[in-house]
Amino acid sequence: MSFKKFYITTPIYYPSGNPHIGHCYTTLACDVVSRYKRMQGYDVMFLTGTDEHGQKIEKKAQEMGVTPKAYVDEYVANFQKLWKRIGITYDRFVRTTDDYHIQSVQNIFKTLYEKGYIYKGEYSGKYCTPCESFWTDSQLVDGKCPDCGREVNEAKEEAYFFKLSAFSDRLEALLSDENRGFLEPKSRVNEMINNFIKPGLEDLCVSRTSFTWGIPVTFDPGHVVYVWIDALSNYITALGYMNDTYNDFDHYWPADVHVMAKEIVRFHSIIWPAMMMALDLPLPQKIYGHGWITFSGTKMGKSTGNVIDPFILADRYGVDALRYHLLREMPFGSDCPFTNEMMLTRVNSDLANDLGNLVSRTVAMVIKYFDGQLPAERKPMPIDDELISMLSALRPYVEHNYESLHISAALTEIFKVISRANKYIDETTPWILAKDESSKARLATVLYRLLDAIRVVSVLLDPVMPNTMPEVWRQIGAAESMTAWDRSSEMNVLSQTCQVFKGDILFPRFDIDKELEALAEIFSSNLAPVSQAEASLAVSERVQSPFKQPIKYDDFAKLDIRVARVVSCQKVPKADKLLDFVLDDGQGQRRVLSGIAEYYSAEELIGKDVLLLANLEPKKIRGIMSHGMILSADTKDGYRLAGVESDSEPGDEVS
Ligand code: ME8
Repeated sequence: MSFKKFYITTPIYYPSGNPHIGHCYTTLACDVVSRYKRMQGYDVMFLTGTDEHGQKIEKKAQEMGVTPKAYVDEYVANFQKLWKRIGITYDRFVRTTDDYHIQSVQNIFKTLYEKGYIYKGEYSGKYCTPCESFWTDSQLVDGKCPDCGREVNEAKEEAYFFKLSAFSDRLEALLSDENRGFLEPKSRVNEMINNFIKPGLEDLCVSRTSFTWGIPVTFDPGHVVYVWIDALSNYITALGYMNDTYNDFDHYWPADVHVMAKEIVRFHSIIWPAMMMALDLPLPQKIYGHGWITFSGTKMGKSTGNVIDPFILADRYGVDALRYHLLREMPFGSDCPFTNEMMLTRVNSDLANDLGNLVSRTVAMVIKYFDGQLPAERKPMPIDDELISMLSALRPYVEHNYESLHISAALTEIFKVISRANKYIDETTPWILAKDESSKARLATVLYRLLDAIRVVSVLLDPVMPNTMPEVWRQIGAAESMTAWDRSSEMNVLSQTCQVFKGDILFPRFDIDKELEALAEIFSSNLAPVSQAEASLAVSERVQSPFKQPIKYDDFAKLDIRVARVVSCQKVPKADKLLDFVLDDGQGQRRVLSGIAEYYSAEELIGKDVLLLANLEPKKIRGIMSHGMILSADTKDGYRLAGVESDSEPGDEVS
């Protein structure tokens, strides 16, 4: 086994809904670093997993009439399915419901208790009796229960506390030690010290008696371990700390980097090192807190409903395009918006135009001018030098930036060199050299320079786009030994008489307007798509389960469904699928768009009665405001209008 180990972790995600682009970002960043480290010869442990306990999950499961375990099993499977789909090479997947994790957490809790770092006290907070939930002041909505909106009361319960306050000085020293660089980016360090440590750390409540879906405290069975001790411990339980299932704790611990987004940096840079100090364990090397992927200015996440379905994006545009875009777009430490348009623009310009074209033009020229195999004669010229020097400097720059999770900066630099290579084609004009027999050696030199440049950049890009780079290597005739990581800073590695092979287009160009229209239709063909993001959530839930989650009658009663009569109808110009209706809804006339033009002609619908979801928030589709939605069944033959018996009248309510 190699002596150089590297241990990297993602947060363990809540399986209370389906994974989204935000989860993809963190997991992809860890995947890139893991792949890169493996290419460098490290013995990598890449850990991810799911955080499955807690009151929220217990309640959701109860509402659905299933056990909490059955509830999480389904979502955990979706996380695993997505990681497989987007090529995540994790080495271990920890579930907090795994027996070994439970065993370890119980041992950790007991050890901390025996060492005097956990003690019994009283927890007080705002309690909602019907929901059986404690809330903090900041969680309340208008002073009321955020779940049911009812009054809450001051209440107390017996609970165990972790002596976080005992570690204040050591934590401050750890965080402010600039040479140690424990927390990155540095901008978060002051936030931790000034907002949390300096005002005085309070001891942390680490057990609850008000719900049962958690790990029981062995020596006080009415209590379950509360959130952070259970969740954070995953980073060591999954290596076998205080359990018999794994035994590589001594080998991999301490972690080289824990990666997460900024909202949980506090737990990782304060509670987690304090736990390590209390257990007398080495501290992790680094905590890295990246920014959020945002959607229209707000964080994208399960609880906000702002979720873009990564399965759909990967299927339509390719896994490597999705991986590239997310990793290229998110700058170090800041937030970054996600829109489909930005992704398509980026994929077209960087992947189809710059990289894809460089490979296809170069390979095509070697085939055209030399029947696919370069002759050995060379004629270098000074104009070659700039490209060569840029290529030679690339590997250390990329390594430094992959290492410190500045993946976007690394990609920016690689694509600068790709642009330079494209410019080199324009400067050296191979098509003119090809006309003159005496310039053959020069032409071969130019094409060789390009092929070897493609080799260098593709090796450095392999951790980010691992599905496409092997195809690049096949096309440029690079043998396996020539694409080793260490050879990406060497020049002239390809055989001087290398043979190229024509291949498929690496990255297709997308017609952005058409794609946006198609995506909008995928989204708007679902019920209640008030925003594209909510619609995509509906899509992803539908993909994974044949039925939506159960709702209460009160939820159904919110839908105002009416009979409406078609007054006029016409096709929306330049949109294949949309019909533009004027409907009589019993109160007046309103304009509604519907994506059924492929299944009905406008004329046949005039005078017909349809079912209208009348209180759907108005939505702009192709520049036209649509005030409601016409209901139809999604049949094997396409959309069919939902039926109304004769003698109903516009405005009749459906219940
Ligand atoms: O917090 N942009 O789980 P979680 C970028 N179980 N990253 C995002 C994101 C977004 N919009 N949304 C989510 C938990 N993430 C706890 C963690 S760890 C011991 C326990 C990513 O499902 C990001 O890594 O809410 C964030 O920190 C994590 O998912 C939160 O996942």
